[in-house]
Amino acid sequence: MEQMMIDQTENFVKNKLKDESSGHDWYHIHRVRNLAENIAVKEGADHFVCVMAALLHDIADEKIAGSEEKGLEEVKLWLESISVEDHYITHIMSIISTMSFKGGNQSEMTSIEGKVVQDADRLDAIGAIGIGRTFAYSGAKGQLMYDPEIPVREKMTQEQYRNEKSTAVNHFYEKLLKLKHGMNTSYAKKLADDRHLFLERFLDQFFGEWEGEK
Ligand code: ADP
Ligand code: NI
Repeated sequence: MEQMMIDQTENFVKNKLKDESSGHDWYHIHRVRNLAENIAVKEGADHFVCVMAALLHDIADEKIAGSEEKGLEEVKLWLESISVEDHYITHIMSIISTMSFKGGNQSEMTSIEGKVVQDADRLDAIGAIGIGRTFAYSGAKGQLMYDPEIPVREKMTQEQYRNEKSTAVNHFYEKLLKLKHGMNTSYAKKLADDRHLFLERFLDQFFGEWEGEK
């Protein structure tokens, strides 16, 4: 029964995201789901809730749904339409709304399942995949990969994020390098440490090559 709901939800999400180019493409969801499953096993979190929340976590993003409210309503209607039990709906909705509200990625998760899915989403923003996503996103927004004249701001408001010039490499300092400190679960912390080292190694090589020294 639960497997059927997962399969149906997978198709629903795949269909909605098939033409997304804002960094929320289907394969981001696919990776977050796989990570969430692996972390859930290690942390003893509920499998069904983690997978469903991972699959649906970006549907309510304003970049996709137009507004968070509209997106959340759509997710709720979907869960009702496939007859997910009420207590599961409440739990899944609470995870997704915490993740999708503005700056929500910084919000505290109260349940272990929420912590797992939030960790999985943050992990997909670092490591080799995180680097790839950052350059892809920057390219799509017309940013340079690096410009020594654009200062790095370690603290940015949402407003600055949206309106001011940045670069792919600046984004490492503005966000990626901070993510490992935000991990909730101990298994995700372990994965984040490796991915973080990979970011540092990448930057070291990048600047070496930039100066023609490597
Ligand atoms: P999510 O909600 O899945 O964490 P975001 O919408 O914050 O994703 O970003 C999607 C991807 O694009 C992430 O990998 C993120 O690091 C990257 N990204 C977001 N903002 C920027 C930016 N200003 N410059 C470069 N990459 C960015
Ligand atoms: Ni995401």
